[in-house]
This record gives sequence, structure tokens and C-alpha cells, in this order.
Amino acid sequence: MAAAAAANGTAVDLKAAFREVYLQLKSELLEDPAFDFTEDSRLWIEQMLDYNVPGGKLNRGISVIDSYKSLKEVNELSNDDIFLASALGWCIEWLQAYFLVLDDIMDNSHTRRGQPCWFRQPKVGLIAANDGILLRNHIPRILKRHFREKSYYVDLLDLFNEVEFQTASGQMLDLITTHEGEKDLSKYKMPVYRRIVQYKTAYYSFYLPVACALLMSGENLANFVAVKEILIEMGTYFQVQDDYLDCFGDPEVIGKIGTDIEDFKCSWLIVQALERANEGQMKVLYESYGKSDPTSVAKVKAVYGDLKLQAVFAEYEGASYVQLISSIEAQPSKAVQEVLKSFLHKIYKRQK
Ligand code: IPE
Ligand code: MN
Ligand code: MN
Repeated sequence: MAAAAAANGTAVDLKAAFREVYLQLKSELLEDPAFDFTEDSRLWIEQMLDYNVPGGKLNRGISVIDSYKSLKEVNELSNDDIFLASALGWCIEWLQAYFLVLDDIMDNSHTRRGQPCWFRQPKVGLIAANDGILLRNHIPRILKRHFREKSYYVDLLDLFNEVEFQTASGQMLDLITTHEGEKDLSKYKMPVYRRIVQYKTAYYSFYLPVACALLMSGENLANFVAVKEILIEMGTYFQVQDDYLDCFGDPEVIGKIGTDIEDFKCSWLIVQALERANEGQMKVLYESYGKSDPTSVAKVKAVYGDLKLQAVFAEYEGASYVQLISSIEAQPSKAVQEVLKSFLHKIYKRQK
């Protein structure tokens, strides 16, 4: 298998080899015998997949392969196993595509990965809701085709189900906290924030890739509770970065235009601002947060600037890093340390 062979090479080769596996999985889905495709329906799925699945940073997917390589001895790595780790990586990218297609509708977003959100395409609209369901259904299709005979197949299905449930529950928390008509900034405190992001982001973005690699390595996930806790902390730090970049990032670089202020989101920035604002600033936040007109948004951003939230974030970022490294180094297994450190170094001080 050429794709898998190249996966033992450099990072660039690795990404290229990973992308080749996408093409194979896509072809298999387009020939799925469980559905009698017409020319139009096959074309729709192909365009929908190409638009939504492969265009991200691929950090989550590649982390399955990296983690699997760290957990196994080099001489134990077969090309078939690298292919399987890549297929699991793509299942996570599929899961992410599914959540993002629906998240963009719910958040009323405009762009994603440098292009209009899928539902903004004139020919798509709310068909995107069903496309999200299809993306979600592709995951068990892929798992069935490639993992059915594996001893860890049931555990894998269970893992994806569990993490999907946690993510959807996190999205619910995010959305009901933001509920129109009940706009109340007084509930936006750090524990509420942490609960939302742990569920909506950390499980699927950080725990899932490593858990996939552990299952492939024959491990029992029940023995990795401490690793899970570290990954949840890393996922929380990652979502703080996402919230920061929503306001202070460059849309050209992050590929999306922020909507958190307009959407009245329980973002890390508003939580920090509310902890620090004086009476006047508090009044501005209460009056302007959650409104979509550019003047209100600018007023909120001005308060963030006056409160020096950029410096507060830089401090948080440094402190999170130090804390994460120290919990990682307390782990008994060097291989596990390597997995966690490599994941952390992919996201530390990220600009996108
Ligand atoms: C959404 O979080 C997390 C999931 C898609 C499950 P956000 O709403 O902050 O994500 P972005 O900023 O739109 O990417
Ligand atoms: Mn969103
Ligand atoms: Mn966001």
C-alpha cells in the first residue's frame, strides 16, 4: 500500500499519505452497496464530502497515527496498521465535519476553513442538516468495512457513540446557555464555561484520537483515566484559544469570521471581562453583548481591549502550558508522555 508506506516518512509525506486514505474511504462510501446510488446522488455526496471533510488542519486525524506510532515499537508497525490508524483518524475528521456543518447553522456563521459555510451555498441551505446526518452515518460504515473482524471493534463503536453523545450534550449546553430571551450575563462564570467546553470540544478533539490509538494498541481504556483527565485539560485550553481567536485572530488565517459576541456565547473572553470590569464597563457589556450591529460589537471589543484581555490570555496560555507539562511528566509511561507532549506541541501558541 503506497499511502501507508509513505506514512513512515516526514510530516509532509505523512499528511499526503493521510490524504490518500481519504480518497480511498470516499470511493468506498460512493460505492456503498447498502444504497442504490444514482449519478446525481453520488455527485452530491462526493461534492459534500470534498467541501466539508478534508479542508481543516487535520490535527485530530493525524494525532491518531502519531499516537499509535508512539505506543507501538517501531518494528511492530505494519503498513496495514498505519492504514487502519489513518482510517480511524479520518473517522474523527468525519465526526468533526458532521458537528461543524450543524454548528455553523446553529451559530449563524458565515465562513469556515476559508470558504462560505456549507449551508450558505445557494444550492444547499437546510439540506445541510441531512448532509450532517449522512456524515455522521459514514463513520459506522467505515468502521464496519475496516474493523469488523478486530477484537476491539465493539469498543471502538462504543467509544465513538459515547464521545458523540458527550459532544452533542456539550453543544446543547452551549446553545441553551446562550438562549434568546433569557439573556443573563450573571451566569457566565468559569465553572459554567469549563463544563460547556469540556463536553463540546475536549472529548472529541483530544480524548478521542488518543483513545482510538490505545484501542488499536490493545489497551483497555479503563486503565487510562489519568490520561483522559490531562486530555480534557488540554481540550479546555484549546477551546480558550478558539474563543480568543474568535475575537483577536485574523479571519484570513483562522478561516472563519468570529460570531461569539453577536451570538451571546459563554466565551472565555466574556467570562474574564465580567471578572474584571468596573461599573461603567459592566454597563457597556450588559447593554451591548449579544447584539449583532457592528457598533455594539465594537463597544464590547473596546472593553476587552481596555481590560487588556490579550495580556490576560498570554498569561493563561503560559500557565496552562507549564501545568500541562507537569501533569504529563508525572505519567509513568514514557510512550504516553510522548503522545501527550506531541499533541500539546501541535496546539501551543497556535494562530489558527
Ligand atoms: C463548536 O465550538 C464545537 C463543535 C463543533 C462540537 P465553536 O462553535 O466555538 O466552534 P467554531 O468556532 O464555530 O469553530
Ligand atoms: Mn460555532
Ligand atoms: Mn468558536
